Amino acid sequence: MKNVLLSTRGLKKVYGKRDSKFEALKGIDIDIESGESVAIIGKSGSGKSTLMHLLALLDQPSEGTIKLNGKNTSKLKQRKLNRLRNKEFGFVFQSFFMNTNDTVLNNVILPLKIAGIRRGERRKRAMAALETVELGDKYKNKANDLSGGQKQRVCIARAIVNNPKVIFADEPTGNLDSATGAKIEELLFNLNREKGITLIIVTHDEELAAKCGRQIHIADGKVIGDGKGVAKHDPSFIEDENLDGMRDKNHTKEIDVEEE
Ligand SMILES: Nc1ncnc2c1ncn2[C@@H]1O[C@H](COP(=O)(O)OP(=O)(O)O)[C@@H](O)[C@H]1O
Ligand SMILES: [Mg+2]
Repeated sequence: MKNVLLSTRGLKKVYGKRDSKFEALKGIDIDIESGESVAIIGKSGSGKSTLMHLLALLDQPSEGTIKLNGKNTSKLKQRKLNRLRNKEFGFVFQSFFMNTNDTVLNNVILPLKIAGIRRGERRKRAMAALETVELGDKYKNKANDLSGGQKQRVCIARAIVNNPKVIFADEPTGNLDSATGAKIEELLFNLNREKGITLIIVTHDEELAAKCGRQIHIADGKVIGDGKGVAKHDPSFIEDENLDGMRDKNHTKEIDVEEE
């Protein structure tokens, strides 16, 4: 039985008005099952972050629907939406900076505060999350005093502290050296394997994308490929202008790269 967690139909996103109107997403239909690990790939400006923001219910589509566990999310009131997001989702976004003047512990505690968890329990859970990312000994440090990789681990601790069903990560290893990046990847995939947390990762990194169970290729606000495996010379990773000639327009949803 399929257990569809997130489902989009005809998803469109238009930024700006009149002359400055820009259609960043042009009708996206995807179903993401619970427990999947999904990479959203495509060149810069293709609409990856826009799609992730919509899936994470951080922004509203201009058209189309997003269902979470079969429920249409457009009907939800802002308060309900905030609560839902806080409870079900964890975020590892570069732009979701931490309060670097505050301690590591307080940064991780924040989602629990928002959720109204009481003080003692908050601290216990935040410490457990920090242990998971092997930063238990740094809880008193100012977040500012950590290395880039450690900060990213704090973000992961904060993302998992509420026991989310989904983790959204936008270029989670983008600014890290390869050894540190590998550690972050390991953490994310362990959460997927061991806790069944659904992973949705926006990435430019071909190797990271290949580690996911599925790759959704976005180009020009459309899905041009969706399936298992990344081709060795996947057009999505080529920062080239015009690739249309390389694609069969009638079969754009299936770029099958698996061996027969
Ligand atoms: N808030 C915004 N206002 C206007 N245009 C935007 C906004 N956010 C993104 N865009 C445009 O939408 C397109 C897709 O952006 P984005 O989803 O961030 O792409 P990606 O993450 O794939 O690099 C880009 O052309 C970008 O300039
Ligand atoms: Mg982006």
